[in-house]
Amino acid sequence: MGKVLPLLMLLLFWFLVAAAAAAEGPRANKSSSLGGLFWATGKDEGELLAMAESVEEPSAVVDDKTDEFDGGFSSLESMLQWAIGHSDPEKLKEKAEDAHRLSESELKKRQLEIKELMEKLKMPSDAELMKIAIADLKNSSVSLEDRQRALDELLFLVEPIDNANDLDKLGGLVIVIRELDNSETGIRTTAAWIIGKACQNNALVQNQVLSHGALAKLMKMVNSSFTEEAVKALYAISALIRNNENGQKMFYTEGGNIMLEDIMRNSSIDIRLRKKAAFLVADLADYQIQHADNSILHYLSNRIVLKAVVDLILIPDLDLQEKALLAVRSLLQLSSTDASDFRDFCSLDQILERMRENLVKLMMEEDLRDYASEIESLRKEVLIIFHRKLEKAAWAPT
Ligand SMILES: *[C@@H]1O[C@H](CO)[C@@H](O)[C@H](O)[C@H]1NC(C)=O
Ligand SMILES: *[C@@H]1O[C@H](CO)[C@@H](O)[C@H](O)[C@H]1NC(C)=O
Ligand SMILES: *[C@@H]1O[C@H](CO)[C@@H](O)[C@H](O)[C@H]1NC(C)=O
Ligand SMILES: *[C@@H]1O[C@H](CO)[C@@H](O)[C@H](O)[C@H]1NC(C)=O
Repeated sequence: MGKVLPLLMLLLFWFLVAAAAAAEGPRANKSSSLGGLFWATGKDEGELLAMAESVEEPSAVVDDKTDEFDGGFSSLESMLQWAIGHSDPEKLKEKAEDAHRLSESELKKRQLEIKELMEKLKMPSDAELMKIAIADLKNSSVSLEDRQRALDELLFLVEPIDNANDLDKLGGLVIVIRELDNSETGIRTTAAWIIGKACQNNALVQNQVLSHGALAKLMKMVNSSFTEEAVKALYAISALIRNNENGQKMFYTEGGNIMLEDIMRNSSIDIRLRKKAAFLVADLADYQIQHADNSILHYLSNRIVLKAVVDLILIPDLDLQEKALLAVRSLLQLSSTDASDFRDFCSLDQILERMRENLVKLMMEEDLRDYASEIESLRKEVLIIFHRKLEKAAWAPT
């Protein structure tokens, strides 16, 4: 049952390739149609199934550089792109040889066969696919492999907002949250990832997840010695409390600010986690800038937090430095932070000056010049905001 999603994607892929090839006519160069796709011949149902299995499964160890945005299919087109990206290019190339031998009528016939095959298999709805995956997760005798597969399928299915909204109704949210306690790190990791995806810009799901009590579990997972698990847990937390005041209050109550401090200050922690922590600080500060009168202001104004963020500016990783600068820029704009803390406790002036010296060197390197210049403008902007805040403080009645 768990194999149904990759199979369907492969069929879809097949069908569209066939349609494009047929439309081009017999003399067209088939191997260059649809941007380098290949048409394969002579597949029966069994072979299709085998191919479906050779399509790579999405896995929890996928690089998550962009995981604030990636994964899931918002449209048929993106599903097709995924199928293309995850097919074995060698296998496709082999089949391309056969492509040239097909006449137009043979292509038409093939297209018809695929249509019939798809009708026979009856493409189920997303809700039906979700129900199947959820039933697998509920079944305690299902193998670990099938459990992982069911979660991988949910990971893609919850991307469209309507599906994410259905997850709780179908009983899926409770089941996925339960998997956060699974003894396998891979299962826990994927479960956290699903929660993050489903919560993304979705207040309804955020509140459902919060009311099911998942925040504390996710915060424990950030302590995991498995980096991927910690990274996905922090990603899920960010998505869960973003623009959600209730969630942010719970986060601080659970010691979220201390958690962020610990991550940012500890140089033996994976750099991806430290980037995510800096990113979350900026995001939380931005929320406070926009909602100046809320009651959660003081957590980020703590000078230990400020120093933890400012110190990240000197770590030699441009991406991390950029995120740290963005966080400092936001923190400087909070009325609850103290300009003198930045000056005296964090030595922000000296740190920004040392950063300038490093950036000047990097700007002489051909391949880094543009990025380094971009960060230098951000650095200047932070410096200006900092000095403005100092002046303002000097004039303010004490
Ligand atoms: C067909 O396309 C392939 C790959 O783009 C190219 O190498 C080949 O020369 C083309 N053949 C013809 C007949 O245009
Ligand atoms: C639970 O999974 C086992 C093993 O895959 C299967 O044999 C059984 O039919 C499933 N039970 C239900 C209720 O789906
Ligand atoms: C994470 O670990 C730290 C120290 O290793 C501990 O102080 C903290 O309470 C732990 N956090 C959670 C949420 O378990
Ligand atoms: C820093 O992180 C490492 C690895 O996660 C952990 O073992 C260590 O206790 C942490 N150090 C401090 C001072 O929290």
